[in-house]
Amino acid sequence: MAVRFGLIGCGFISRKHLQALASCKDAQLVAVSDLHEARMTETKQFYQTLSGHSDSVECFQDYKEMLTNAQMDAVIIASFSGLHARMAKDALHSHKHVVLEKPMALSIEDSDKLIALAQEQRKELMVCHQLRFRPLMQKIKQLIDEGRIGKPYLGVSSIRINRSPDYYSAAAWRGKWASDGGMLINQGIHFVDLLQWFLGDVKTVYGEIAQSSYLKETEDVAVGIIQFKNQAKGIVEANIVTKPNNLGYSLAIFGEKGTISIEGPSLNQISRWYIDGEPINNEELDLLLSDGNEQLYMYEDFIEAVARPDKHVQIDGTEGKKALEIIFAMYQSELTKQAVSFPLSSFSTTDMCRREGT
Ligand SMILES: NC(=O)c1ccc[n+]([C@@H]2O[C@H](COP(=O)([O-])OP(=O)(O)OC[C@H]3O[C@@H](n4cnc5c(N)ncnc54)[C@H](O)[C@@H]3O)[C@@H](O)[C@H]2O)c1
Repeated sequence: MAVRFGLIGCGFISRKHLQALASCKDAQLVAVSDLHEARMTETKQFYQTLSGHSDSVECFQDYKEMLTNAQMDAVIIASFSGLHARMAKDALHSHKHVVLEKPMALSIEDSDKLIALAQEQRKELMVCHQLRFRPLMQKIKQLIDEGRIGKPYLGVSSIRINRSPDYYSAAAWRGKWASDGGMLINQGIHFVDLLQWFLGDVKTVYGEIAQSSYLKETEDVAVGIIQFKNQAKGIVEANIVTKPNNLGYSLAIFGEKGTISIEGPSLNQISRWYIDGEPINNEELDLLLSDGNEQLYMYEDFIEAVARPDKHVQIDGTEGKKALEIIFAMYQSELTKQAVSFPLSSFSTTDMCRREGT
């Protein structure tokens, strides 16, 4: 039987969710919620056209009404970041499985509460770090886990993009500590997530941030140094002031026996793929590079977990919290001017409002 989904938040990212849902044979959109009537209508039509389903999709301006009234198994939460934790809590209390956009929450406390609540309610809580499902990333993870690049020494994640004042003025929630978190949380989190997924658990994090414009509250530039438990070092370098437009992203892993480096506008180019004694299989790499169906694979994983009691989603709340905790540590380090030891006992992005000069 198809998993019946409701969607909260019919903005930009909702389209990617619906494109994936429309391609899943065991999924059906049954309800949508947004504050704007017109967005709900457009979203409903978008899904119906893509999927070819003409079954009714109910519209609710109040998401709580949707949680109570619509016949759904799962809820996709794609509203702005500051609402994620509250909406996910309400959905879990309504006995729904949850697909939660990143970031899962804007504090350690809310992240921990969601993890505990999903377990208590015995519901799947999946956090959208979809890049982990991209076949190229799965391959890199496999190479590292099998020890083929040897002991990892260093991982570097770079985010060099441009976000103009117009981008921030287009949606009032962006650029504010309470509703967005910072640029690392909004734009950088996937690349921090891949870095930690590849290199493992974290011991300490040191970070600094800077802000060039006071048109918004949050940072434009961030740098971080990560000490992983396996002795590898990590560097995060991120900015949204790259002129005149996006330069792209890069992620490089340097190990005892190999170096892997990928880059590009969506990490879709290989700049180095070297492992001692292993010839490069260009045909395999080309196939991996051409597969960008990660959003679909993420939904297939979720649907299987909902359907099968012996299966759980690959990126649950505990996994979803990992990159967030590194970013929170970078922010906390900016406040204390010291390295932060893991695990963090407490942090909220609103703590950043206490920063001098903001
Ligand atoms: N996984 C990714 O790669 C990715 C990419 C982009 C955005 N995101 C995340 O998705 C979220 C949304 O981003 P976006 O760019 O689509 O934002 P957006 O502003 O385009 O859309 C947000 C939508 O939520 C709606 N909304 C606000 N309050 C609501 C409420 N109480 N009930 C119902 N709907 C409500 C708004 O009306 C709007 O339509 C953010 O948290 C962002 O971090 C994730």
